[in-house]
Amino acid sequence: MTDIDDNARLTLVGPGKPMGKLMRCYWMPILMSWELAEADAPPVRVRLLGEDLVAFRATDGSIGLLDEYCPHRRASLFLGRNEENGLRCVYHGWKFNTEGQCVHQMNEPNSFADKVRTTSYPTAEIGGVVWAYLGPSDKKPPLPKFDWTQVPAAQRTVTKVVQECNWLQALEGGLDSSHFSILHRALRDNPLQEGLEPKKWAIALNGPTRLELEPTDYGYRYFGIRSGKDNSVYVRGYHFVMPFTQLRPPGPGRKQVHGHFWVPMDDHNTMVWNFYADYEGNPLTEKDEEALAGRGNNYGSHVDPKDGFKSIRNRSNDWLIDRAMQKTETFTGIDGVNQQDRAVQESMGLIVDRSKERLGPSDRAVVATRRLLREATEALEKNETPRGVDATYYDLLPAEGVFKQDEDWHAKLIAAMYPKKERDVTM
Ligand code: FES
Ligand SMILES: [Fe+2]
Repeated sequence: MTDIDDNARLTLVGPGKPMGKLMRCYWMPILMSWELAEADAPPVRVRLLGEDLVAFRATDGSIGLLDEYCPHRRASLFLGRNEENGLRCVYHGWKFNTEGQCVHQMNEPNSFADKVRTTSYPTAEIGGVVWAYLGPSDKKPPLPKFDWTQVPAAQRTVTKVVQECNWLQALEGGLDSSHFSILHRALRDNPLQEGLEPKKWAIALNGPTRLELEPTDYGYRYFGIRSGKDNSVYVRGYHFVMPFTQLRPPGPGRKQVHGHFWVPMDDHNTMVWNFYADYEGNPLTEKDEEALAGRGNNYGSHVDPKDGFKSIRNRSNDWLIDRAMQKTETFTGIDGVNQQDRAVQESMGLIVDRSKERLGPSDRAVVATRRLLREATEALEKNETPRGVDATYYDLLPAEGVFKQDEDWHAKLIAAMYPKKERDVTM
C-alpha cells in the first residue's frame, strides 16, 4: 500500500520533484509536426512538466523551444513575431534564436544582447512528432526512434487529446488490461458504436484476464491471457517503455502497432498521445487522415486543435454520458473507447489518493509500474541511469495470437515482439 508521500514521489512532475527529475531524463513528444508546418509560421504554446514554453519553426526549418516568458520583463513570446531565424518579443523587440540567445534589442541603443540568454531546450523531429529534452545537456539520451516512427509517413498516424488528471492515473489506466472487455464492452453489434463489437471480440469476453509480467531493461513486457473457445488461449503481448509509453497489439487480424504516450503537462493535466503504424503497406484511411489533421471526431475524442486539444467530453459535463445508450448499446453509455478510458480515469479526481485503493492480483501491471517508477527515481538520486534512458526499445513490437492449450505461445510471441535482434528473454 502506498502512502501519500510515495504518491507525491510518483505523481508530481515540477522541476526539483523526484518524478520531475526522472521525466527530465527522457525525450518527450511535444507537438505534431503539422502544428509547426511552415518556417516562420506563428509560434505555438507548449505546457510540459509544469513549464510554460513556446515553440517556433525558424526560417531554416529548425525548431526552437523557449521559456514562454521573455527574460526582459516577462511578456509572453507567444505574442511574438517569428522573424528571420528568431522569435522577437513584441513588447520591446528583443529577438531570440532557437538556442535561446538574444540576437537583437530594439529598445537598447547600446545593445547587450550577447549577454542575454533565455531558457531553451533541444528539439528533434522524428516520425511526424516534435520531441524535446528538458534535462541536463551532458545527459541527453539517444533520439527516441521507436520502430513505428521509422515506417513511411503514409502508413502512420498520431493524434492527441488533453486529459484532465495526473499523468500516472492515465498511464495506469492504459496498462491495466483487465478492464478491456468490461469498460469497453458493447451490449450488441452496432457499427455506430466504438465499443467492442461482441461478435468480433467474443473471445475477449470469455472470462477474466490473467496477466504475466516480465521486467526488462526498458521497463517490462506483459501478456494478457484469456481463455477462448475450444480450449484455445488468446494472448496479447504488450511493452511498457519507461517512463510513459505503451506499445499494444491492434486486435485480431491486423499487422499494426498501436500505442500511447501519457505525457505530463503539469501535475493535473496530461497530453495523451495516440499513435498507430501499419506494417502491411496500407495507406491511411480517410478516417485516419481526418485524425491526423486534428479534424473529425479524432477516434471519438471530439477534440479541437484550436482549443488546445481539449475534448468536448470532459468532467464538467459528465463526459456526455447517455443513460439510454448505457442500457442497450455500450457498458458505459459513453461514446468511444478512448473517451471511456479518459472518463473513468478523470472521474477519480485530479490526483487519485492511492492510500485508499484496494488492489488485487489483476492490478499486477499497475503495481509493477509504480515499483519501476519508484526505483527509477531512487536510481537517479544515486546518480545511476534509470531504465529506458538508453536506446534499448527501438525495435520493439507488440504481438498477439490465438493458441492451442499446449502450444508454446510465449516463445512465439517473444519472437514476434523482438523481431530484429536476439534478446535475453529472462532478464
Ligand atoms: S518584455 Fe520582451 S522585450 Fe521587453
Ligand atoms: Fe481502455
